[in-house]
Amino acid sequence: MFKRAAAALAAGAMAVVLSACSGGGAANDGAAGGGSDKITIGFSQVGAESGWRTANTKSVQDAAKKAGVTLKFSDAQQKQENQIKAIRSFIQQKVDIIAFSPVVESGWDTVLKEAKAAKIPVILTDRAVDSQDESLYVSFLGSDFVEEGKRAADWLVKEYQGKSDPVNIVQLEGTTGSAPANDRKSGFADVIKGDPKFKVLASQTGDFTRAKGKEVMQAFLKSQPKIDVLYAHNDDMALGAIQAIEEAGKQPGKDIKIISIDGVKDAFTAMSQGKINVVVECNPLLGDQLMELAKKVKKGESVERRIKTEEGVFTQDQAAAALPSRQY
Ligand code: AHR
Repeated sequence: MFKRAAAALAAGAMAVVLSACSGGGAANDGAAGGGSDKITIGFSQVGAESGWRTANTKSVQDAAKKAGVTLKFSDAQQKQENQIKAIRSFIQQKVDIIAFSPVVESGWDTVLKEAKAAKIPVILTDRAVDSQDESLYVSFLGSDFVEEGKRAADWLVKEYQGKSDPVNIVQLEGTTGSAPANDRKSGFADVIKGDPKFKVLASQTGDFTRAKGKEVMQAFLKSQPKIDVLYAHNDDMALGAIQAIEEAGKQPGKDIKIISIDGVKDAFTAMSQGKINVVVECNPLLGDQLMELAKKVKKGESVERRIKTEEGVFTQDQAAAALPSRQY
């Protein structure tokens, strides 16, 4: 059974849609923990900025339905203030668990302390917070973004092994202040710093969107006379950049090599056409694990503080074979 309810979370322009999904019939709206084994999760999602995000939202909503969990879903439209309002609303509604994917890393302590005071456990999904107080959340489920940045650079190092000419790189960063942007940048930088031929000439945010990725790449193409490599922190920005490169009369994947992160179907298609050279996988299908985790937390069972997602790296020769089985 799928039921929708609209809730006004705050004054102003923010329109937040709360949807309640229940696999088992009666919704558990507003019921806090207690003896019941029904669970209500308040889930604050970053937004709908990318194909990855759409797949992540679907995974969480489908998994809640399957697990008979009531899900109050809120889309923050990439704004931290919307997430804070949503979390406060979840506290008021006395949900059993709050789960959220923080748009940026900093600035969460106050609202997380409010959740703690209300005795509502918080699970971080996908992205981390930089809070020093580890008691403010029970677990963090998601990828290792530093590792993803390192894997992206490992490919580059291998690709240019034995060559000594400078390699001019431009970087499309994710949302400023977000964990994936910070970590993918630092992981990549850590690996390439060992070899002075790798030069990051320009690095700017494309906010994880296709439109912004295209716009920033157009600016890079105008300001940089020679670009050998584009490192994009996600597929959507890489796909936007491909349009900019083609419109500039260059061949993506050949004139400018492209390294991307995520592994959405459109990127696999672009890879199988030779337009992206390598994709480091970031798995958005976290829904089932999140439901399992929430059930354990509700029962008072101990859970791991950090649960890492398993991921791979895909090159062009693997793309065509992997494409039909991509789920997102
Ligand atoms: O937090 C995960 C990142 O957020 C994904 O790489 C990106 O596509 C999304 O917007």
